[in-house]
Amino acid sequence: MMKYVIINGSPRKKNTWNIINQARKNLNGEFEEIHLASRKIPMCRGCYNCILEGEDKCPHFEYINPIVEKIKEADGFIISSPVYALNVTAILKNFIDHTAYIYHRPEFFDKKALVVVSTAGAGQKKVAKYLNETLRHWGFNKVYNIAIACGGKDHLETEGIDKISKKFGSDVESGKLHSPKFGDVLFYNVWRAMAVTDDPIPADARFWQETGLVNHDFSPAVKLNPLKKIFAKLMYFVFKKVL
Ligand SMILES: Cc1cc2nc3c(=O)[nH]c(=O)nc-3n(C[C@H](O)[C@H](O)[C@H](O)COP(=O)(O)O)c2cc1C
Repeated sequence: MMKYVIINGSPRKKNTWNIINQARKNLNGEFEEIHLASRKIPMCRGCYNCILEGEDKCPHFEYINPIVEKIKEADGFIISSPVYALNVTAILKNFIDHTAYIYHRPEFFDKKALVVVSTAGAGQKKVAKYLNETLRHWGFNKVYNIAIACGGKDHLETEGIDKISKKFGSDVESGKLHSPKFGDVLFYNVWRAMAVTDDPIPADARFWQETGLVNHDFSPAVKLNPLKKIFAKLMYFVFKKVL
């Protein structure tokens, strides 16, 4: 049975939630819902503890860790937000700020995700792109986007939602992993090289060594074709020299 974890980044269960519910009809498995608004996560203090010393040193670890652990257990992850002032909601951004360390220490290489964004009329593509990009930095293997303008419509147009959510669901069930993009290989090797400089960020150095990822061109869970392998080695070599 597939496990899906859903993060609702809206303070209510309306337009964005309706889209998620429509997508759910095309997914087989069990669902865990995380309504961020009810978690009352304090604002990120910018203390840098997560990045420099380890995520367990975050003053809000007890709020963030259970959510990150749920994502780790999931086969499929759904992250969602309405557009607020041409961006994600502050509730979701605050959660993402607390996970900034994952950009340095990516780990979701065998997972797939679906981004769901709703808006009245503007910003949905840009916001979905931002969330997609964030998850790729976290290591996600494949990220699908559903971005919908709901303004002036009295019913939900289900066709596009069904199409993308079916693709997402069958991809999750297939268990097959996609080849990463060159950009993914590039960022992986930037952080990998950063972890072996003369003066690395301690928590990053620990992570890359302890996971053994420092010895790999990319996560060993994912296959690289020969061209991407060469690209990875070259990037690692160059960034080790310049960082
Ligand atoms: C504070 C706030 C800011 C918003 N900003 C925008 C915006 O910049 N552009 C837009 O087209 N819609 C904007 N909207 C409309 C919502 O994005 C839209 O109604 C969305 O579908 C609401 O989703 P929800 O029902 O899941 O909360 C805003 C709504 C609120 C409450």
